[in-house]
Amino acid sequence: MQPFEDFAHIGAGTLAGRFIRNFWQPVMISEDLGAGQPKRIQVLGEFFTAYRGEGGAPHIVQDACPHRQTRLSLGWVEGDCVRCFYHGWMFDGEGNCTEQPAEKDSFKDKVKIQGHPARDYLGFVFAYLGDGDTPEFPLFPEIDETKDTVTYNQHPVPCNYFQRVENDLDEVHIHFVHRVSADEAGLDQLPEIEVSEADYGILRTGKRSDDGNNVTRTAHIMMPNTLMTITPGSSADPDWTLHFAWRVPITDEEMASFIISTKKGGGGGLLRRPHTDPDPNDITEDVLQGRVRVQDLDPGYRGLFNVQDNVALAGQGRIVDRSKDWLGQSDKGIILLRQIWARELKALADGMPIKNWRRPKKSFMAEKTREIELANS
Ligand code: FES
Ligand SMILES: [Fe+2]
Repeated sequence: MQPFEDFAHIGAGTLAGRFIRNFWQPVMISEDLGAGQPKRIQVLGEFFTAYRGEGGAPHIVQDACPHRQTRLSLGWVEGDCVRCFYHGWMFDGEGNCTEQPAEKDSFKDKVKIQGHPARDYLGFVFAYLGDGDTPEFPLFPEIDETKDTVTYNQHPVPCNYFQRVENDLDEVHIHFVHRVSADEAGLDQLPEIEVSEADYGILRTGKRSDDGNNVTRTAHIMMPNTLMTITPGSSADPDWTLHFAWRVPITDEEMASFIISTKKGGGGGLLRRPHTDPDPNDITEDVLQGRVRVQDLDPGYRGLFNVQDNVALAGQGRIVDRSKDWLGQSDKGIILLRQIWARELKALADGMPIKNWRRPKKSFMAEKTREIELANS
């Protein structure tokens, strides 16, 4: 395997890690970051201190204090700065050292830690963890404009993030992994898959012959790790639903999905999805340890979809040697995804620019609604 074909390792300095760090990422749930209560979080294999200053804005700085390395997340928030618990050095959200109380001749101007741009959006704290100029923040008008009920949650998965990203290109798995639910949703037929590269990533469609339900699922896979799925309505549930997921690496062997789901009607606005009990990851572990079969789980269990995906993904191993895969024509989305990533990582390795990935400013749903209106006129 060439270094530019390693998409799994994401530590600082790795090619895939450098690539992902070019994009804003959700790093935690906003409401879990109370003012004055710093938290230690792990993203992309690194620890950070997240804190919310008196101004209310979130800040993300490196967790290790540069003095003698204790965690800044153990300290205090003062104004819009965080003060170290050990000897009181203080830092602002940009990583500048603003105080060294025990130093008679302060050398604070020489001390700088990582401080990353951060903001709240759609229930999550997003951060830009890369170097250089901060890219424009990616807004999602499909969600911003909705008057419907939008739920968000964060869901850890015990495997490498790229397994989860590949699954987003895998329309066939629905037929097997989610068989119990798919049959009900009119997705019981194997789809005809089409994929193509777009300005933002990959457009994927899975067409099934129409048996009275509208059964073409469209997904926009936005580089590097964001899925947007538009699921058509069925005769039972005529409204389209929207699903967004960011597949964010925590370490090389664990990732978290940050998920947004919109449901037509209700007008509930932005709501946190309640925790699923029992925890899907506990059930996943039971299945992987052979204590229970995934096929025997209660079809009414709210965490079933997550467990089904987790089992298929973590069942590959936490991190996988992809050279052993046998890919077929139904894997064309995964083949295209790997080709694009290899091309981008090779550009980074060669010191060349990566593609200017960008999504359209206008809503994908507006386009979809217009298509439907035209078809009906
Ligand atoms: S370790 Fe943070 S001030 Fe000493
Ligand atoms: Fe799935």
